[in-house]
Amino acid sequence: MCGIAGYVGPRNAVEVVYDQLKRLEYRGYDSAGIAYRDNGNIAVIKRAGKLSELGKMLGEVPTDAHQAIAHSRWATHGAPTDINAHPHYDAFENVAIIHNGIIENYLDLRDELMSRGHTFHSQTDTEIAAHVIGEEYDKGVPLEEAVRLGVKRLRGAFAMVVVSKREEDKIVAVRNASPLVVGLGEHENLLASDIPALLPYTRRVVIVEENDIVVLTPERVRIVDGDGRDVPVVEQHIEWDIAAAERGGYEHFMLKEIHEQPQVIRQAIAGRIDEQGHVRLEHVFSEHVWSDIDRVNIIACGTAYHAGLMGKYLFEKLLRLPTDVYFSSEFRYGDPILSPKSLAIFVSQSGETADTLAALRLCKERRIRTLGIVNVVGSSIARECDRTIFTQAGPEISVASTKAYTAQVTVLTLLALYIAQIQETAGVRVKSWVDDLVRMPELAEKCLLLEPQIEQLCRRIKDTNLCFFLGRGADAYVAMEGALKFKEIAYIPTQEQPAGEMKHGPLALVQQGVVAIFGATDPYHVDKTMSNLKEVQARGGTILAITTENDSIMEKAAESTLKIPACSHPFLTALLSAIPYQLIAYHVARLNGHEIDQPRNLAKSVTVE
Ligand code: M6R
Repeated sequence: MCGIAGYVGPRNAVEVVYDQLKRLEYRGYDSAGIAYRDNGNIAVIKRAGKLSELGKMLGEVPTDAHQAIAHSRWATHGAPTDINAHPHYDAFENVAIIHNGIIENYLDLRDELMSRGHTFHSQTDTEIAAHVIGEEYDKGVPLEEAVRLGVKRLRGAFAMVVVSKREEDKIVAVRNASPLVVGLGEHENLLASDIPALLPYTRRVVIVEENDIVVLTPERVRIVDGDGRDVPVVEQHIEWDIAAAERGGYEHFMLKEIHEQPQVIRQAIAGRIDEQGHVRLEHVFSEHVWSDIDRVNIIACGTAYHAGLMGKYLFEKLLRLPTDVYFSSEFRYGDPILSPKSLAIFVSQSGETADTLAALRLCKERRIRTLGIVNVVGSSIARECDRTIFTQAGPEISVASTKAYTAQVTVLTLLALYIAQIQETAGVRVKSWVDDLVRMPELAEKCLLLEPQIEQLCRRIKDTNLCFFLGRGADAYVAMEGALKFKEIAYIPTQEQPAGEMKHGPLALVQQGVVAIFGATDPYHVDKTMSNLKEVQARGGTILAITTENDSIMEKAAESTLKIPACSHPFLTALLSAIPYQLIAYHVARLNGHEIDQPRNLAKSVTVE
């Protein structure tokens, strides 16, 4: 959840780690801090608030520190205050640490340490971990050994980075269920919780494996396992263009990522459709396994869960394969009934979402087949699933997920078609679906052209205090995702469900001034949706319809209509309608002057439960 950064080498280390934090702000942003070497000591600066608050302190910092670690926080234990901000010292200020994750046994450890005379300044679990590691270090062992021994006393999920007074030019970090990446340089090395923070400095990276401890000096990167044995340092080369990790001229990452969707669809299908129009998926189960699968469970959170609902729709409609979709947090504690022949699909942009990862581990314990649909290569979910299909959407920085959703549904569609192809499912014309998929990038471009109209329309709805998101079939599922975007960044309460459910309760909320957005792109449902529209309109609701260029029904009744191009398969038209929903949320939030990329109370990657 939090952002972590580290640098050791000839440059101004404080400047480098501050720059790294700027590129990681999406991971957490309620306070930030830096520890750096200063005259044989480890000095710490930290501040509550946005990173720019910490930036104001940089003028006081010497420019000759060649070793620094830094952290941007998303609070879990203790309020976001100066004192609770990382880094934290041990009892004698011999070590300073930063940490991403949660130490579950911190209360027991605190009691134990207090019984030995320790006192604490903050309410954080991180300070407890610093004291634990400090105790080990006081025994005179090297820093990496102190970290290795200290971590054995901690329970939880975390990545931790430590520097010490005694060992100049050495940074030690440990990974335990929270991401950590090393950047390899010439006479310098770096650390970060995510790759974009390394790209300005190097494209040579090492993904730190679970429970490994990494030791960075300017000339060397060494990795040891939890037993202290050396493990190979496996280097990867990152091909991403650095601009891909930055805003590329857009006002916000979210807008940039919305506009990237035509390209994202192209990338998601790239190499996966051959010249004959067959779907080719590599690294999935062999063909006979698919015939053995009797049920699919899709497990995910938030936007990825909404993508899962679309997967269910398609798997059941096309393949007649029974499919359930679970929130990861419910699945993991729900004692799910799992058929030994079932397949569990984990959908995740980050590949690090704690609940999804825990649900995956539960399935693995029960020996269920697991498949990941993941964006971040090298992430925990990607590595731990039996098989993983990457969404290939590139880094998504905005907290509000947009392009990841489109990529996830595109990949789920490819998967359904792939299975249909293997099983020769009656009635599924794979070629016609593939033709649609190939056209999707161009059609997505057309949806983006609606932006000026959407911006104008948002001026009319931006002051509403309740917005309904309604539809039927796949349109209902995309409407749910539209509602999530709206509440996340526009901060306006929403009510979303299949339109047919309105009269079973939610209709009571309709009165003058509420807005209802109807997704009505599937001609099969349009007449019924129209009846629901009338019910809302009769009670004073303002109606906006997202429909297709072929529509002549909805436009007659709705106050405003957004018309998107139609695919031959209505499911894919519904997917395209995610774009106007995203733009509506974006423009309402922008017109109301909200933070877009970092909505209040939220963080990009939820690596705690
Ligand atoms: O990284 P993941 O896809 O596993 O994340 C799941 C959710 O936390 C995420 O989709 C969240 O709901 C987004 N902020 C929604 O825009």
